[in-house]
Amino acid sequence: MFQSLNHVISMKDFTREMIDEVLELAEKLEPFARGKPCRMLEDKLLALLFYEPSTRTRLSFDAAIKRLGGSSIDFGMVEASSVSKGETLADTIRVVSEYADAIVLRHPKEGAARMASDYSSVPVINAGDGGGHHPTQTLLDLYTIKRESKLEEIDIALVGDLRYGRTVHSFAYALSLYGVNIYLVSPPQLQMPQHIKSDLVHRGITIRETNSIEDVLGKIDVLYMTRIQKERFAEQSEYLAVAGSYRLGSEMLYSARENLIIMHPLPRVNEIDASVDATSHACYFKQSFYGVPTRMAVLVKLLGGNV
Ligand code: NCD
Repeated sequence: MFQSLNHVISMKDFTREMIDEVLELAEKLEPFARGKPCRMLEDKLLALLFYEPSTRTRLSFDAAIKRLGGSSIDFGMVEASSVSKGETLADTIRVVSEYADAIVLRHPKEGAARMASDYSSVPVINAGDGGGHHPTQTLLDLYTIKRESKLEEIDIALVGDLRYGRTVHSFAYALSLYGVNIYLVSPPQLQMPQHIKSDLVHRGITIRETNSIEDVLGKIDVLYMTRIQKERFAEQSEYLAVAGSYRLGSEMLYSARENLIIMHPLPRVNEIDASVDATSHACYFKQSFYGVPTRMAVLVKLLGGNV
């Protein structure tokens, strides 16, 4: 069990010790994520409730529980569930928490996972709540840095939609526990929300803001690119004004540090050109694989199982 944590809702609830425990466990579980037989959670059933589209988060949770010997249930598309008949999230959670041993929830409303945890008799894992948080993405992002770079005294740039991007909100809180140097790179309209920046400064982190990738490319160890979150804009015109703000091409990497790693939670739209994929810096596909051992570690922490 996580010390004092029954649900995984926000990175704000995590101490550095708790994160380090997950990352160490993920490393031990990596051979099993690659297919070594394992029955650690063979009696456990995981419910996957996705009210928003997903490829990696959903499939890697499904892979994670199955690689641990357990199984999963889901309601498929939201349209095929009783949600389309008007069932409330609270009622759905009450019911599903009687069927399964844990619930993975993705929902378009910020705060939905926290609310769901009030109605659930089993652990709830936030797999993204609107423009809020995405804590397990952060855990796999940290695991990627640990495996592919080093997780201390590094310089990191978060690039793109820092306003609506839930991955960067969660990530920034966790990074503040590792004393890293953070550059925030976004168009002025998509800056990191003020309350998050204030929290980071309060935690003793120096943040620098710019709107240009070129400004920071030669000064960083990790470049974390993100997609402009089209679905979160109130007006299409506001989206169009910032769409395509960033496009990283391999020709821009001449000034990069030799060991720079480029990450992206995916899906990418056009912010990383395919020419970057073949460079030694590209790390985003490895990063999506690391979602499996990391989510296995989260499930083992929440549901028990002897390692
Ligand atoms: C992210 C998300 O859903 O927030 N995707 C993911 O989980 N890997 C990023 C995004 O959709 O841009």
